[in-house]
Amino acid sequence: MILSTIILGGLLLMVAGYYWRKSIKGGCNLPGPIGFPIIGIYPFLNGEFFFYLFRMGKTYGDIYHCRIGTANVVVVNSFEITEDMLRKKAELFNDRAFGTPENIDIPVGFAELDMRDKWKELRNISVSILNNQNVGEPSLYEMINNEVTNLRKFVEKTFQQKPFNIRPLLLHSMGNILISLMFNRRIEYGHKEMETLIRNVHDTLLSMNPFHSPLFSQLKTYFGFSTDKDLFRGQEAIGKIVNICEKEIEKHLSNSIEKPKDFIDLCLTEIEAKKQDGKTTFLTHNSMSGICENLFVGGLDSTGQYLTWLIHLLTKYPDVQRRLRDEIDDVIGRNRNPTLSDRDSMPYLKAVLQETHRYASIVPVAIFHRCSKDITYNNYNIPAGFYIMINYYAIHHSERYFDNPSEFNPSRFINQQGDFIKSKYVIPFSIGPRVCPGEVLVQRESFLFLAQILQHYNLIPPKGISPESMPTTIRYEAGGILVSDFDVVFSPRTD
Ligand code: HEM
Repeated sequence: MILSTIILGGLLLMVAGYYWRKSIKGGCNLPGPIGFPIIGIYPFLNGEFFFYLFRMGKTYGDIYHCRIGTANVVVVNSFEITEDMLRKKAELFNDRAFGTPENIDIPVGFAELDMRDKWKELRNISVSILNNQNVGEPSLYEMINNEVTNLRKFVEKTFQQKPFNIRPLLLHSMGNILISLMFNRRIEYGHKEMETLIRNVHDTLLSMNPFHSPLFSQLKTYFGFSTDKDLFRGQEAIGKIVNICEKEIEKHLSNSIEKPKDFIDLCLTEIEAKKQDGKTTFLTHNSMSGICENLFVGGLDSTGQYLTWLIHLLTKYPDVQRRLRDEIDDVIGRNRNPTLSDRDSMPYLKAVLQETHRYASIVPVAIFHRCSKDITYNNYNIPAGFYIMINYYAIHHSERYFDNPSEFNPSRFINQQGDFIKSKYVIPFSIGPRVCPGEVLVQRESFLFLAQILQHYNLIPPKGISPESMPTTIRYEAGGILVSDFDVVFSPRTD
């Protein structure tokens, strides 16, 4: 009797366990950790979560399922699966999974939208303007060069060869490039207006934390409220950024456009042309504000943090800095500003930029994508609505693709003939139709910034600190891997 009760109890437990597990997996048969009820694996995702998700791949494979809150997430840790999903099966895996607050009436650009007609039109217009070198007067590359010169003058006047933290200035410079591009104006260094914009971008990014949103939005669904302060602050911040954009559009509307000078002018000209041709368009004043907000949020912090990493790594690795400076001296010299075509003759510079993208992986995981319908992928069922999280950090730090991945070594991308090797495994901007629309702009900015700075300065650590003893500590904040604060001296070149 006792024995049969134990056997029956055991069987019931097994059946209950099976159905519990099945319900937790939401119809997905990918392997993966079970996690806790309601919160899933959320408690494990503090700090360097991208590393944790990478390590879990060693147990569960290159693609696995987990729950964050009650949201179902498919984690991808390999290049091959990423390429297959985002490029080859693009229509299935490129919808968005934002918790864009439904009850808030804010203009929307394209980054929040699923991959439909509106997304396509707004994105195509934005990319064609962003990649056009001739937007504005002066042209894009002159404008970037002028911004670097302004930064240099400010540094010389303010710090006079004393150590300083370059991060806030680089964020300011990146803000200025976006403002020049979109609104044809700039903000002086030290001005409060830029500090506020940078803070609002930061707060918006904090609210997009991929782990908070699913957990807290689920809490909201279950209990009717959410305590996510980051989310509320982020909503307010988006509103403020949109407000700036709306005011700029108003200003532009009150002037006639003879020759378009910036992004807003070009969009207004496009709207007028469509009207004349009797064509419909998703481009409206409202969506223009949303696009400008997307570009600030996507482009300001990310590029500023990437340049901060570059300055850190060049200060810490003087041999890399020296070799790069030699190449700059050979190709550009010291008496003129760099031009974009100089890049073609600078393999080492390209290698440094690519290696920094790989090593730093400043955007460690993609903004969530969403599976657009129920599918069977490599014999696994992935139901519609499941989130897809591509772990770029895992790809960039996998021994499968790179020897000694934890080493910063730009020479890994130079072949025996001294040519640059573009690696298909370095994908900081993602791949497929949702690839970052700012990629070309970032390549131009980082080249022009680095080349002009190294034409004029040796980057050295403060007195008493040797380059190799500079710590490279990191923290994950607002969607990015940031290198911790460090001081650098811009010492004028005398060689
Ligand atoms: C080092 C700098 C940057 C990095 C590493 C970076 C990386 C990324 C990544 C990984 C994505 C996600 C793509 C996906 O969902 O698959 C993305 C999207 C995006 N980025 Fe960037 N980005 C950078 C700079 C910029 C700049 C300068 C801009 C604007 C001028 C920008 C605007 C955007 C926008 C609007 C999206 C959303 C695209 C869409 O949903 O269609 N980013 N970026």
